[in-house]
Amino acid sequence: MTDTELLERADVVAARAYAPYSHFPVGAAVLARDGHVIEGVNVENAAYPLGICAERTALARAVAEGLRPGDLEAIAITVSPCGGCRQWLHAFKLDRVTYRRANGEVVTHTPAELLPDSFDL
Ligand code: THU
Repeated sequence: MTDTELLERADVVAARAYAPYSHFPVGAAVLARDGHVIEGVNVENAAYPLGICAERTALARAVAEGLRPGDLEAIAITVSPCGGCRQWLHAFKLDRVTYRRANGEVVTHTPAELLPDSFDL
């Protein structure tokens, strides 16, 4: 699966976002190293800070399947990842992060490029 195809998966799944407050649907698709894809969407809550971003939903689903940091090759996201999600992308040791910038340009970066000098425990 190419990064372009992975972003197409994210675009399609974004329609299933639960975003009744922001009306801003986001989709994410993670490519595991064994080739299968795990999708995620943003899920909002009336208590706004409790909502979860699409990329963290996808990563949490991957963990629930038994996958761990290093088991995931790439992620595609329909928007530029927020700061907190960049820390998650770093933690999961993805090779590539593809997303669509606000101006429509599609770019691919490493997690380190998106979050230099990131925190490790
Ligand atoms: N959102 C994501 O799903 N991922 C990001 O990286 C940026 C923001 C969601 C959270 C919220 O549901 C909506 O976009 C508006 O902020």
